Amino acid sequence: MKDKIAALLTEIEAFVPENADALEAFRLKFMSKKGLIAGLFADFKTVAPEDRKEMGVLLNELKDKAQGRLNQFRQIGEIEKAPIAKPDLTLPAGQFSGGRHPLSIVRNQINSIFKRIGFTISEGPEIEDDFHNFTALNFPPEHPARDMQDTFFISRDPDIALRTHTSSVQVRVMEAGKLPIRIIAPGRVFRNEAISARAHCIFHQIEGLYVDKDVSFADLKQTLFYFAQEFFGAETRIRFRPSYFPFTETSAEMDVSCNICGGSGCNICKHSGWVEIMGCGMVDPNVLEACGIDSSIYSGYAFGMGIERITMMKFQINDLRLFFENDIRFLKQFEAAQ
Ligand code: DAH
Repeated sequence: MKDKIAALLTEIEAFVPENADALEAFRLKFMSKKGLIAGLFADFKTVAPEDRKEMGVLLNELKDKAQGRLNQFRQIGEIEKAPIAKPDLTLPAGQFSGGRHPLSIVRNQINSIFKRIGFTISEGPEIEDDFHNFTALNFPPEHPARDMQDTFFISRDPDIALRTHTSSVQVRVMEAGKLPIRIIAPGRVFRNEAISARAHCIFHQIEGLYVDKDVSFADLKQTLFYFAQEFFGAETRIRFRPSYFPFTETSAEMDVSCNICGGSGCNICKHSGWVEIMGCGMVDPNVLEACGIDSSIYSGYAFGMGIERITMMKFQINDLRLFFENDIRFLKQFEAAQ
């Protein structure tokens, strides 16, 4: 009897059912009323009295083992039968669609507005040297933007930094030397700013550059007027205020009439009726020359705008940090805006 118990024990321990039927066969063979274990219990009567104690222990162990095995595989069977573990592969897919990030939506819209009038898209590196980010753009050596306070430097001497604006792409395109130039350059820029509802250390800009013979400020105005009407609506008005940038001369800031109140005054436009959306101007001849373009033959205009700012205006978003937190409840609101 002892040998029989040992043999069954080995068989039970090795048992792994392939399916529910195999498990049921196992139950019938070992654990049913007429099964092998019940048979051994029946034979127990014939065991010599002095062996009964030992044999009783072994028999009970065998029964527990078989029951344990049964329970173990039954549990797995239960899980397999549960609806979560067995997805219905015949169901239609795509019930949970994603959406574009609001910044991507606006960037794509701006790209397509400028593409329609012949601008192409250029890109440049996010890690820049001093020449492309500052020097070629006519920044004087002591300009505060070159300071550690504003710029994330990766190394000093030579100065390598995260670009602080997409104006660096202007330099790269002009250096390449294929004229005329009519490009826009969207991309990420980096500044050492404390993060708040109105400022972030990473944000996005779109740069524009047009270089050809006889380019004038009137061309700049007309192009930006077209852009403002396409982007904010046909009733939008624009105005230019004199400004200063090292890389443009003449320089200006452009405002659009507030698209929330239509110009009558509200919180968004601080009751002025106007919202500043970009810097622009005629490319400074020093910049053309630094990039190898003859400024006695060619002239150009440039502009640069922050994508976050106009996205906030367009969708009435009041906190810049929302763009970077990627909270699904925020992002879901733009699914339809594509
Ligand atoms: N680079 C400027 C900035 O980051 C924006 C800018 C202003 C770009 C005037 C231009 C421009 O191309 O002409 O603040």
